[in-house]
Amino acid sequence: MELLPVLDGIHSAETFHPAFLDAFFERVAQLESHPEEFEDALKGKVIATVFEEPSTRTRLSFEAAALRLGAGVITVADAGSTSRAKGESLSDSAKVLGGYADLLVWRHSKDGASRLAAQSTGVPVVNAGDGRLGHPTQTLVDLHTMRKEWGTFEGKVVGILGDLRHGRTARSLTWGLAASGASILLLPGPGLAWEGGLEERILSRFDYRRRPVSHALIPGWTGSSEAWLLEPRSFIQGQLFQGGPSEISSLDALYLTRLQEERGARQERGSYPGVNPARMEDPLLSKCLLLHPLPRRGELPESLDGDPRMRCFNQARFGPVVRQAIFLALLREDAWPLPAVTPMPAGEVEHGLGPCPNPNCITLEEGIPSPWRVVGKRPRSFLCAFCDSSLPAEYVGCLSTRRVHPLHSASAEKIRAENLKPFLAREQAEVAGFAWGG
Ligand code: NCD
Repeated sequence: MELLPVLDGIHSAETFHPAFLDAFFERVAQLESHPEEFEDALKGKVIATVFEEPSTRTRLSFEAAALRLGAGVITVADAGSTSRAKGESLSDSAKVLGGYADLLVWRHSKDGASRLAAQSTGVPVVNAGDGRLGHPTQTLVDLHTMRKEWGTFEGKVVGILGDLRHGRTARSLTWGLAASGASILLLPGPGLAWEGGLEERILSRFDYRRRPVSHALIPGWTGSSEAWLLEPRSFIQGQLFQGGPSEISSLDALYLTRLQEERGARQERGSYPGVNPARMEDPLLSKCLLLHPLPRRGELPESLDGDPRMRCFNQARFGPVVRQAIFLALLREDAWPLPAVTPMPAGEVEHGLGPCPNPNCITLEEGIPSPWRVVGKRPRSFLCAFCDSSLPAEYVGCLSTRRVHPLHSASAEKIRAENLKPFLAREQAEVAGFAWGG
């Protein structure tokens, strides 16, 4: 399977791992303590910021970061003013802009847009938010904010509250927190949980487990009496589980998110979860930092701005320095080597699984087949290589034995990743020349 080149950009928080994060945040600390040493680090470089969705903090903090390093900036703040409005494909735009700039920062409404742009151009691409899928640089900002408070994530419990289903910051942060060793309390608003698959991938990648927990505040947030905690197995070794939920006594941080109405999210008036001064009196939240990627709505009221636990403006302030470190990692690898992020497979295009089932996938807009990548072994899943949606494979063929097996079978598990060929139906595999292997 072809792999995207190492550090060809930052597309997904799924590519972060502990060694990368440790080294990255050391660099951020260097930038914070000696900003003057980096003033000309990117002199002569051009950075393009292409924002096809509204943005205040993300675009301007990327641009401030570029200017602080001596780079020039060209920008698209409104896609309606570009050839994209005349129907130009994302891949054509990326090809063209890669000839004008040394690095592209791209925000797009479709899931997987950043990976597609990176495959179309020869320069690094940084995902500044793609649809509901990811916002990995916001995750680096969020993690930096918490690391500055705690130094380590060991033993810390972070709640993520609100629109998990459509919110890209929540999705990326969950990966980032798991890569950092924190426990994560998932608090989706009613009907706003994410689809299956994401948590399973996190559990198997980081050796985490899922445990139900309860607290009197939880029903008012999620509409259900219990919530799920994702936690490192090592952290809970020796504890006995009766199967039922146990009471959670304290949260170290709560990450609030707004309802993503532009992605079709709807909620009955007054039922969207948040905090207020009275709720903040609860012992669960006594030392709980309040984070929010902003913009906020009623879920984090201004009446809490003077609260000593409030951190959302710290996050916003850290945007430029974190993004300076990203630019240096990608454009000055000579001076700023970092451990490579885990490469994202570019995926295999050949399969009979049909189009990506996610209506917001970039492959549907671009009219291209959805390449698959494979994750896990037991169970093995096939995902769209651009938007990570599950592709509905039921059978899997082996390219070396030319036999086809049910996906969930011992024989299928034995097939090496490079020999896999997924199918929707057994007949389809037989037409393609695979014999039934049972
Ligand atoms: C977020 C985004 O655009 O995904 N904002 C940001 O980047 N600071 C969150 C949001 O819009 O709700």
